Amino acid sequence: MVVLLGAPGVGKGTQAQKLMAYLGEPQISTGDMLRAESRGGTVLGRHASAYMRRGELVPDGLILEMVRARLEAPDARNGVIFDGFPRTLAQAEGLDRILKQLQRKLDAVLSIEVPMRLLIERLSARRSCATCGAVFNQLLDPEAAKRHRCPKGQTVIVQRDDDKPETVERRLKVYTVQTEPLKDYYRRSGLLSEISGEGSVDEVFDRLIHALAGAGSDFHQDTRRN
Ligand code: AP5
Repeated sequence: MVVLLGAPGVGKGTQAQKLMAYLGEPQISTGDMLRAESRGGTVLGRHASAYMRRGELVPDGLILEMVRARLEAPDARNGVIFDGFPRTLAQAEGLDRILKQLQRKLDAVLSIEVPMRLLIERLSARRSCATCGAVFNQLLDPEAAKRHRCPKGQTVIVQRDDDKPETVERRLKVYTVQTEPLKDYYRRSGLLSEISGEGSVDEVFDRLIHALAGAGSDFHQDTRRN
């Protein structure tokens, strides 16, 4: 069970997709789950989208309830890759309690580190398919979004509402104040590895795999599914 930690735009979602194929474990992205709720017009979605539009965190209680339910799903039994969760000390402590009740444990917390200047550049160039969630970057490959044919239906390429410059600034501040302190929390428990998120997507992935191999026997190369 792995946590991907890091500021908005470091590449958590991009790397979680690759890790999912590598480890054969599902990604639990609280951001994707909340956006799905919002698209579905549920009570949770309507409540959460007000926080998300402002670049603020959704209340801890709602997030923990959502994560607990997801962890109980059959496909999450053998391990998961958390992307964008936990994000506050209360969420980290809540996750510890849930895992204890489920008699499970975290194997590694990988914090991806990218300089602020690059984060702003990456987020302003991010586009995604509103139907399937595929993520593109206009700087990495300007034609990729145009080539996309959505496997789930109509191709609708959008910029996320919270990737507008004023909201990005707020999200980065929220990360520094509320989420970055989690690095100390996980450093104390010996779970934290800090990994540079600069360079190509494949270079970053190689660093993550290397860190996982050093994190415990569950993640040696022979666990690779692909
Ligand atoms: P969430 O969806 O989790 O967003 P985030 O953490 O801000 O992270 P991002 O999705 O913006 O970035 P990422 O690190 O996944 O980067 P990506 O791979 O896309 O949360 C959104 C909101 O939901 C929050 O603000 C909050 O309101 C709410 N929320 C979610 N979880 C919550 C929680 N636990 N508690 C409370 N509230 C919660 O990459 C970014 C771009 O860079 C892409 O275009 C990508 O193609 C590109 N890229 C990736 N890697 C590279 C590379 N190596 N080189 C160049 N470009 C790259």
